[in-house]
Amino acid sequence: MVDVPLERLTQPHRPAEPANGRTFYIETFGCQMNVHDSEKVAGLLMARGYRPAVRPEEADLIFYNTCSIREKAAQKVFAHLGRWKTAGERGQRVGVLGCVAQQQGERIFERAPWVSLVCGSASYSRLPELLDRLEAGEDRVAGLHLETDQTFETELTRRQHPFRAYVTIIEGCDKRCTFCVVPFTRGPERSRSSRAVLEEVRRLADAGYSEVQLLGQTVDSWRDPGPPYLSFADLLLEVACVPGIRRVRFTTSHPRDFGADIVAAIDADDRLCEHVHLPVQAGSTRVLERMRRGYSREEYLEKIRLIRSARRPISISTDIIVGFPGETEEDFADTLSLIEAVQFDGIFAFKYSPRPGTPAADWPDQVPEEEKSRRLAALLERQNQIQTARNRAWIGRTVEVLVESRHEQRNQWIGRTSGNRVVNFTSPEPSLLGKYVQVLITQAGPHSLVGLHQGRTEVG
Ligand code: SAH
Ligand code: F3S
Repeated sequence: MVDVPLERLTQPHRPAEPANGRTFYIETFGCQMNVHDSEKVAGLLMARGYRPAVRPEEADLIFYNTCSIREKAAQKVFAHLGRWKTAGERGQRVGVLGCVAQQQGERIFERAPWVSLVCGSASYSRLPELLDRLEAGEDRVAGLHLETDQTFETELTRRQHPFRAYVTIIEGCDKRCTFCVVPFTRGPERSRSSRAVLEEVRRLADAGYSEVQLLGQTVDSWRDPGPPYLSFADLLLEVACVPGIRRVRFTTSHPRDFGADIVAAIDADDRLCEHVHLPVQAGSTRVLERMRRGYSREEYLEKIRLIRSARRPISISTDIIVGFPGETEEDFADTLSLIEAVQFDGIFAFKYSPRPGTPAADWPDQVPEEEKSRRLAALLERQNQIQTARNRAWIGRTVEVLVESRHEQRNQWIGRTSGNRVVNFTSPEPSLLGKYVQVLITQAGPHSLVGLHQGRTEVG
């Protein structure tokens, strides 16, 4: 879960609209796409004169931007909604956005009758109209159309981070993996034009952002919908060339669309970060077929070879599901041998969670919960060892870190390398946020590095 601290939202390039005396609070669950959607919704609200409230109790409008990728995430939303039964008596309005909104639709009004607005992400471009109706006194408004060719674009985005910005380049997903709700909650795949993406990146660079992260459920499936018909790799290179941009990240790549031209682009321009997130999901070709992932174990390993043969030390992270229906002990052993073969720099591992409406949820050969837990623990234990060894290889090297935050109690700065490794370090300098610094790595654990500032600070 990611809380968006709205009091920290910044947008240096756009003056605030006059306040209308009303306030809002958005709580965000789930992926970076959701975090970024919340930034856009916050921007729309602020343009209408709403101001961010520090706590939901003080807000006139309380929005939950929800996630339904796994059951637990979806349940959490209803637990939170339960707090607001009497919100209406105090004049507060409650809204549900995102994936649970799309999946549950108007059933949310039945289950939580105090909710006034339900809107899925494919309908966010209708939010201004829905807000008009809410402000005019309507009790219940809903935006639930999924069939759309529109992307949710707004120049009003209130970004929560002062030097790293998310930029959506593709929305929705057409892949229909048999376990996944995303095609049902976020609608069909729609790419933004390279022109719109580059204009946004130029504006961000002018406003002082030095790192951009291009977002999409399958970001490398992006296709330029009009002239100049750039490829995804070309787009990466163009974004990297925008004056002021020092780091470009992109997530999440789908192995089927990942090609040598992306690796060549990373090799050609150091501003493209040396990190690829390439979810494999499983190590057994039989399971991958049942998941409908569109590649075999060998084809995935071929993509890994492409990345490993690059000039730069590109780090690779992945997502893995354990206990997918029908996954045998032998299939799971294939997942363990795959992480051994690849030596990932990071993994996000999940127990399979049956999701309503997806094909695999109805399959009879579900794996028992205890077995899923056992497999997850075994996988994570092995991966921890791999990551520790991989991180230790950085001890003694000096790396460039973009400083993102500070841990006061530990007197440490926290930042990331181009390869997406978290680095905690000490420095005598009083103010390093947003700066690029050289750090000598002195220690390494499974999830982060520790180091010392080398004193050559460059302004971001
Ligand atoms: N295309 C997106 C997928 C979003 S979901 C991406 O690649 O990031 C993020 C991850 O959640 C997936 O890669 C998958 O590993 C996991 N996931 C999706 N559906 C799941 C389910 N039903 N049960 C468990 N994990 C799931
Ligand atoms: Fe989900 Fe597969 Fe698309 S994991 S987001 S359906 S690529």
